Amino acid sequence: MNKHYLIWDLPLRIFHWSFATSIMLLWLTSELGTDYIDWHLKLGYLVLALVSFRLVWGFVGPQHARFFSFFPTPKKIIRYLKHKDQVYAGHNPLGGLMVFAMLSLVLVQGVSGLFVDDEVFTSGPYFNSAGAEVDSLMRTLHFNTFDFILAAIALHVAAIVFYKLIKNQHLTKAMVTGKKPSLGLNESDEIPHSKLILALFIAILACAFIYWLVVVNPPPMEEFYY
Ligand code: HEM
Ligand code: HEM
Repeated sequence: MNKHYLIWDLPLRIFHWSFATSIMLLWLTSELGTDYIDWHLKLGYLVLALVSFRLVWGFVGPQHARFFSFFPTPKKIIRYLKHKDQVYAGHNPLGGLMVFAMLSLVLVQGVSGLFVDDEVFTSGPYFNSAGAEVDSLMRTLHFNTFDFILAAIALHVAAIVFYKLIKNQHLTKAMVTGKKPSLGLNESDEIPHSKLILALFIAILACAFIYWLVVVNPPPMEEFYY
């Protein structure tokens, strides 16, 4: 049987599937209206915690989770386009570009949400705290960035389907099991383990940071009397 190497660590896989599910639920809760706005906010905080975790993991996680390992320089992209049949252990340069684009777009969406209100009863914890101009800019960002996120997701999923159908590479399976066939890879591409204790520590720090950001730090809400 073909040998497989561990490429994607468990924390990165948990990150990916929680991130993808939360973004879809955020879309749903924004469409369902006021009854679901509380869920929208909670999921938004979860996504901000996930992105915070991923930003740190990109520096201290295992080899293929590190940003430097797939940072898409023009040189790397050109080499990839010239030699398309090369097998990559982690993200290929175009995939890497997509990772940076998706994380940045979601970060903009999440942070801008903190300043938005639904013009009914609910607002983000920083609404009305930095002046009307900032609120207006954040509103514009929150109501327009999601179109770009959807476009990026469509491209992302299309690329994965392309790899499966045309190149016969099962990237999704690898994002579930963490393992890729060793064919075309080197033994040094395999990661020794998932650094689980470190991941747990960073996950707790990320949650504590978001708790501080959305509960402890915001200015008190103005009271409304009817
Ligand atoms: C059916 C839906 C999806 C499938 C099958 C899927 C599959 C995958 C796969 C296979 C990879 C690894 C790509 C590679 O080998 O280079 C990946 C990475 C990634 N996907 Fe998805 N994905 C899905 C939905 C989403 C959604 C909705 C998002 C949200 C924006 C998303 C964000 C990401 C990100 C940020 C990465 C990079 C992971 C990292 O290095 O942190 N994906 N996805
Ligand atoms: C990254 C995570 C988030 C995503 C993907 C997301 C997505 C969306 C989308 C698609 C809309 C509808 C925009 C439109 O109608 O064009 C929306 C509205 C809204 N979001 Fe978010 N959001 C996120 C995080 C947040 C956060 C953290 C907060 C607040 C703390 C927030 C508060 C709101 C509010 C108050 C609305 C307006 C709802 C309305 O007027 O009906 N969102 N969001």
